[in-house]
Amino acid sequence: MTTLPIPDHVPEHLVFDFDIYSAPELEREPHRTMVELLQSKKVPPVFFTPRNGGHWIIAGAVEGLDMLRDVERFSSEPQYNANSRKPWTLPNQSDPPEHTEYRRIINPAFVPRTVSGMEEHLTSLCGQMIDDLLPRGECEFVEDFGKKFPVNVFLRMAGAPQSDREQLVELTEQVVRHPERGVREAAGHALGAYVMRSYESRRDKPGEDLLSMVLQGRFQGRALNQEELLGMGLLLFLGGLDTVSSTLSFVMLFLGRNPGHYRQLVQDPTAIGGAVEELIRTYSVASLQRGVRADTEYLGIQFRKNDKMFFMTQVYGLDQRRIEDPLRVDFARTVSPHLGFGAGPHRCIGSHLARTEVRIFLEEWTRRIPAFSVAAGQEIQTRGGHVWSPVALPLVWASDPTSAEHEICPATGRQSLANKQVLPRVAVQ
Ligand code: HEM
Repeated sequence: MTTLPIPDHVPEHLVFDFDIYSAPELEREPHRTMVELLQSKKVPPVFFTPRNGGHWIIAGAVEGLDMLRDVERFSSEPQYNANSRKPWTLPNQSDPPEHTEYRRIINPAFVPRTVSGMEEHLTSLCGQMIDDLLPRGECEFVEDFGKKFPVNVFLRMAGAPQSDREQLVELTEQVVRHPERGVREAAGHALGAYVMRSYESRRDKPGEDLLSMVLQGRFQGRALNQEELLGMGLLLFLGGLDTVSSTLSFVMLFLGRNPGHYRQLVQDPTAIGGAVEELIRTYSVASLQRGVRADTEYLGIQFRKNDKMFFMTQVYGLDQRRIEDPLRVDFARTVSPHLGFGAGPHRCIGSHLARTEVRIFLEEWTRRIPAFSVAAGQEIQTRGGHVWSPVALPLVWASDPTSAEHEICPATGRQSLANKQVLPRVAVQ
């Protein structure tokens, strides 16, 4: 029972004491744990937690989808989000019609045609990084690959030096999931200062990179002011540096524990497209924030102006009211409904890039590594926050893929592990 104050418009049956940064439920298999709490009705799909200044959590997909689309009542503007402090980010913390103009500035960098043009580079970069790991027969995936491949891609897009990678990744991680507010805010300011310095070096001679694009952007016929430049740059770094890395790490956690699923992809690479969607459905990583514009009643619940709302899209693809047998991972599902990239006007602008990165990664990994597993006896810890992620993920594989353990699939000519269960099937199936 919590002793933290509960606002008087929140009924007791909708209160659940849950810290989005440090709840014990988020420390191991957070998706499965949250789904079990929801399915057993121990937690309602919309509930209030007194932690972090007190806010609502929308954990049900049915409720979440409608609320995300209802921008009239549930606003992205920071002024309606009681706990929102500077530095603010853009375009996500704005509502239409302003939002539409901000988003238009960066849209060309993320349209399918631009991303298609990056594929050759992504494939060779990814292949090269796996080749470097291959002879070791093991890696700590989060550090050795997750925080490198997508980050390298983003820094190249942003025109930022690769030598800044470690510093930027650490700051981003602190912003999105550090349990202490002071650390999150300090990291946000440090990242913001980095972004503003990066603009300065482009002012006289803008290039083709993302930050130059923002610098040259127009809003209502004028250049962006300092606060807008900061917000746009900051969100690009937060979106580009952490989300794909966390997604890849969850994908590999699942495949490393489910050799049958992995074998399907090795033997039939055409299954990879469906696998990407199904794995993003099962392992969505990001939460979103909104604020209540004016006192309102919704689904019989009273919301008060400036109530803060947190949308737990991580579990929207696992809502049994939207999908049958949600914890079963099936690469052949005809539809894998999820809201991992959000919904409504703010739907993730980087989703096409993110999907492409995950697909290319799976193509290149399966091409080179016929079988792998999570290192035996390892308990995999995860962290919550705005983007969920495994903390570390030790993986092992046979460093000599021609070893006797592997056989050649007659249909594809690719190698695969000969009917060998590497580890028992656990976790989300
Ligand atoms: C698997 C990877 C990713 C996930 C799960 C993800 C998730 C999301 C979600 C859920 C939103 C909606 C935010 C809201 O409604 O408030 C969003 C928006 C956004 N994302 Fe992503 N994202 C990913 C990758 C990326 C990448 C690679 C970039 C850029 C390099 C990016 C940039 C953005 C931007 C700029 C927005 C704001 C869009 C707007 O407000 O109109 N994301 N993302």
